[in-house]
Amino acid sequence: MKSISKRDKENIWHPLTQHKRSPEALGIVRAKGSILYDESGREYIDGIASWYTAMYGHCNPHIIDKVVHQMQKLDHVIFTGFTHEPAVKLAEELLKILPKNQNKLFFSDNGSTATEIGIKMALQYHFNHGKPRNVLLAFEEGFHGDTFGAMSVSGLSVYNGPFEDFFLDVERIPIPNSNNIEGILKNLSS
Ligand SMILES: Cc1ncc(COP(=O)(O)O)c(C=O)c1O
Repeated sequence: MKSISKRDKENIWHPLTQHKRSPEALGIVRAKGSILYDESGREYIDGIASWYTAMYGHCNPHIIDKVVHQMQKLDHVIFTGFTHEPAVKLAEELLKILPKNQNKLFFSDNGSTATEIGIKMALQYHFNHGKPRNVLLAFEEGFHGDTFGAMSVSGLSVYNGPFEDFFLDVERIPIPNSNNIEGILKNLSS
């Protein structure tokens, strides 16, 4: 029986990976708490901390229980023209802890798409006020994801080369601090 890593290599491309030079992807078969286990039983401390795993640990029984119950009751419904209690409850809970100037939520399913949504909201705001804008301001060293808007507002990266001709119009500025803010504002207004 071939390993998961071997079967992966034969069939899958991974994000942000140069496949000719990269080692085989690690085949992970299970996880508990902060530990990942590979297919030969080796243990790794998961320092990546994707999603909620850093806060609650992998395979948290409470989260599993909630997910199983929800899947048995309502697995999916499109969010255009439909809604459901878990989304409404999450929005209510988040609004309680968000800054007071936040009064509505718009859900996204991943980081890159959240960036696209933010860009579209900003552009639409100015469009709706009859003064469309088409240049975005972004920090030089940021990383916001791999969709076109997200790549555009990220810092320049080796991964973006073939796509740069298609980017949105972006002015990049260093992260402002008390030493450089004057210069940044002067450059932007010139
Ligand atoms: C700061 C930041 N923004 C956006 C993203 C993109 O998120 P996703 O991979 O869910 O599209 C990442 C991913 O690492 C990130 O670290």
